[in-house]
Amino acid sequence: MTKRLKGLKFFVHTFGCQMNENDSERIVGLLRKEGAELSRTPELCDFVIINTCAVREKSEEKLYSLLGRLAALKKEKGLLIGVAGCVAQLHKSRLIEKKPAIDFVIGPDNYQDIPHILSESSPDKVVSTQWNRRWQGVSPGDISRESSVSAYVTIMEGCNNFCSYCIVPFTRGREKFRPSSHILSEVEYLAERGYKEIQLLGQNVNSYRDPEKGIGFPELLRTVHQVNGIEWIRFITSHPKNFGREIAATMKDLEKVCRQLHLPVQSGSTPILEAMNRSYSSDEYLEKIAFLREMMPDISLSTDVIVGFPGETEEDHQKTVDLLRQVRFTNIFSFRYSSRPLTAASKRNNDVPFEVKRKRLIEIQSIQKKIQLESNRAMIGQVIRILCLGRSKRDPHLYSGRNQGYQVVNFKSVADVIGRFVEVRILSCGPYSLIGETV
Ligand code: SAH
Ligand code: SF4
Ligand code: F3S
Repeated sequence: MTKRLKGLKFFVHTFGCQMNENDSERIVGLLRKEGAELSRTPELCDFVIINTCAVREKSEEKLYSLLGRLAALKKEKGLLIGVAGCVAQLHKSRLIEKKPAIDFVIGPDNYQDIPHILSESSPDKVVSTQWNRRWQGVSPGDISRESSVSAYVTIMEGCNNFCSYCIVPFTRGREKFRPSSHILSEVEYLAERGYKEIQLLGQNVNSYRDPEKGIGFPELLRTVHQVNGIEWIRFITSHPKNFGREIAATMKDLEKVCRQLHLPVQSGSTPILEAMNRSYSSDEYLEKIAFLREMMPDISLSTDVIVGFPGETEEDHQKTVDLLRQVRFTNIFSFRYSSRPLTAASKRNNDVPFEVKRKRLIEIQSIQKKIQLESNRAMIGQVIRILCLGRSKRDPHLYSGRNQGYQVVNFKSVADVIGRFVEVRILSCGPYSLIGETV
């Protein structure tokens, strides 16, 4: 234990994806192990760590606006500011040059160094962003998890796909896989502590290959499926190019694997998919949707869409609209294309004007909203199984959970049902959530 951290108060702010959320849980765990105390606000803290996302310009800007607020606090109280995550890895020492309020910059491969950096007598201006080729294990007991019901379990990191718009391969490095024996121990540990659900995480989980035994993703699913106590298993993200029938058949076979899949399509236009370097056509994507629905008629599907990729014509855009109308996803995440440094697409010079991107995004979102409202309305009166994850953030009189399809369900219950599976009758809905009561 590093004595110097004992009793120090810290705050962690997380932007970005589930991988970042899980990384923050590890950072918090590491620091707590050293005796530091987590605080819910930065005001009375000795140090703050901002775990950042670089995927879009807007995600990166969130760091700068938070830094603005923290810099004032630093002046007043002298707290230390560390920047972790994808923006840290991307800009390295340039970040400190640009924002002198930052004391240290630490990339996703170096979180183990944080206690050491902080315990130096003068942790001023440290940059730690070198890649590490080996998987860095954190023992399950050292992860300080947000939820006591559903847990993220990282199985791989990095990405080799180089989609032409995407910065992630530059911020997370090349693919690195965690041994299945470690994954299994973590899942067993979670089950023993009463966790009911796990979400396997990776930038592209289908490419998983155990570095020790060589088993692939379907076999990994079978391995974790054997753990008693865990009742729902999810995974994110799957790249359509290597999401095949074998994984679908495994999902169908394993009853604890939720009938839910996030399969990012990005565009409904094949020429745009080609320019994005996605390695599948719109028809190939639709074929995958078809066999998934044939095998699991009740499967809930979600996707990511980018509008206004360089060179996207109105015709290309309408192909995306058609695809959304055809598939009728349960949920989508849609974004205006944002040019990112180092990416191939950033070198193109056929940008779509901002106003056109804005209109296309509004069109996509309003069509999808209508689809979701229709399909949610059709669920009114049904009784569905929900895993209760906690109280609703908006209305503390209600509980909140998710169904197998990963839809948010807020509901009334007389008994405290946090961490339990309950049967809920759906009474009303909006486009983004369902409302009900326990039966
Ligand atoms: N590994 C995952 C997640 C990548 S980031 C995957 O492959 O799906 C999450 C989403 O952000 C992407 O699916 C994409 O829709 C969006 N995204 C990535 N880069 C973007 C960019 N430059 N502009 C707009 N959206 C982007
Ligand atoms: Fe980015 Fe593509 Fe890798 Fe996903 S698969 S992280 S979108 S490069
Ligand atoms: Fe963002 Fe990095 Fe995740 S760029 S989406 S936090 S992998």
